Amino acid sequence: MNIRQAIRQKRRELSPQQRSDAQQIIYQKIETHLALNQAKNIAIFLSFDGEVDTKPIIEYLWQQNKSVYLPVPIAEQQLLFLNYSPNTPLIKNKFGILEPAINETSSITIEQLDIVFTPLVAFDERGYRMGMGGGYYDRALANYQKQQILPIGLAFACQKLAKIDNQPWDIKLPEIIYA
Ligand SMILES: Nc1ncnc2c1ncn2[C@@H]1O[C@H](COP(=O)(O)OP(=O)(O)OP(=O)(O)O)[C@@H](O)[C@H]1O
Ligand SMILES: [Mg+2]
Repeated sequence: MNIRQAIRQKRRELSPQQRSDAQQIIYQKIETHLALNQAKNIAIFLSFDGEVDTKPIIEYLWQQNKSVYLPVPIAEQQLLFLNYSPNTPLIKNKFGILEPAINETSSITIEQLDIVFTPLVAFDERGYRMGMGGGYYDRALANYQKQQILPIGLAFACQKLAKIDNQPWDIKLPEIIYA
């Protein structure tokens, strides 16, 4: 089993208690996050495979009248960010993950986003991440500093590695919220 698979399995095998304890801490950090409070357009993702449950975060963002966007993979390993409100219809993509239907929802360009919650499989102290291997987030965030976007990784502590072997295209996250 490779590292990516091993960490995904550890993440899936967290007990319900471990999961909910960690998530309470993560949700608290989010509710007191200064940049997040000041943000308007926020991209997040719908969890799968044992990822930190983002549904309570999304509910919180809606309550705070933030505009929420979800990523949809399109051609050439790119991400389109589509508006997500409580009445947006979701459809299953080819991986079985729910996403907004492209035709029915409005998209936003990456530079209009203030914060991009970023999924990850593994991360290290420096903020380097290993994703699912598509390079989607490395591409989407390639110019994040110039575009004044704040990417924030979301993870459980069991996803942390001492050091990730980073490649030239890998984006180093300025912040990762984990517990
Ligand atoms: N900015 C970029 N421009 C062109 N190709 C890229 C870019 N970023 C990544 N890639 C390509 O994408 C492929 C996958 O990248 P990588 O293995 O880092 O995925 P990942 O970080 O796990 O995925 P993700 O970003 O979707 O979470 C690599 O072959 C890499 O060359
Ligand atoms: Mg990468």
